[in-house]
Amino acid sequence: MWHRYGMTSAAPVRKLLLDCDPGLDDALAILLAAGDPDLELVGITTVGGNVGLDGTTRNALQLREYFQIDGVPVAAGADQPLSRAAETAEHVHGASGLGDVVLAEATLAIEARSAIDFLIDTIRDAPGQIHLVATGPLTNIALALRQEPRLTEWVASFTIMGGSYTRGNATPAAEFNIFADPEAAAEVFAAGWTVTMIGLDLTLQAIVTDAVGERMKALGPLGTDLVEPLATFWKNPLDDQWDGQALHDVCAVAFVARPELFTSKPARVEIELAGEFTAGMTVVDFHSDAPNALVPMRLDVAGFWDYVFAAWGNVEPRG
Ligand code: BDR
Ligand code: CA
Repeated sequence: MWHRYGMTSAAPVRKLLLDCDPGLDDALAILLAAGDPDLELVGITTVGGNVGLDGTTRNALQLREYFQIDGVPVAAGADQPLSRAAETAEHVHGASGLGDVVLAEATLAIEARSAIDFLIDTIRDAPGQIHLVATGPLTNIALALRQEPRLTEWVASFTIMGGSYTRGNATPAAEFNIFADPEAAAEVFAAGWTVTMIGLDLTLQAIVTDAVGERMKALGPLGTDLVEPLATFWKNPLDDQWDGQALHDVCAVAFVARPELFTSKPARVEIELAGEFTAGMTVVDFHSDAPNALVPMRLDVAGFWDYVFAAWGNVEPRG
């Protein structure tokens, strides 16, 4: 029987592989992947970004146990960008990367393979099935592509949180994930696949307003102990353009599960590497006849929050 996407029968479960740098919003993106029954989180790979690799990996391991997704492998990747000095963002995410939230030490082992090998093996072993999402600097993805360029053919889709077509946040021109490793981003965008680029223009629609914060607290201990503290930790002192923190990385996971919440356009994206004031800028050409990206531009904000809260509410945190 013919039916529209997601309307008359359960959508097929999508396998999601998340490369991330937790990170306040990365943690909430992991939570979304853990809670959505339409997603199967097949692995978490970590990269240095918001804090150093030791911190992002520790956080991923702790979050795995707190969310009771013990069977999901966690593999550690690159601790430095391809060629630049590391840029971190403790001023946004706190010294640990998780703001004021303190989780129990992890007890389960880390994956023996590196993130690079884990990414390659996992995608190669399930061709056409893995939705790859990257919510940190693109160093691991670039290194995996250097080793196995056929990843571009084997993934079901590739989505990043990064870039923008208007403004930056790390600098006036550059968004943090691209700014932190522009050479990796340039390799990734040039690899011959379609990169869904969830940039700041989109994610700044997913704002934690006071009303959203109240909804978070209503989740119970998961909300009061983790979700709301993470989502409100950063008080943006420099910008009065919006009212609250944006859950950037959550949007990237949401796109895989609910693309109908997003209105998108194809574009060609190039990465500025040399600009004196613009290094790490994503230069987005919506008129190119050689697009390499899909750029979500508008978010169904109410539908997004309804979806996210329903999925988060499925997770029973470890007591
Ligand atoms: C991105 O940078 C990081 O600080 C966040 O985790 C997000 O991935 C937003 O610019
Ligand atoms: Ca991130």
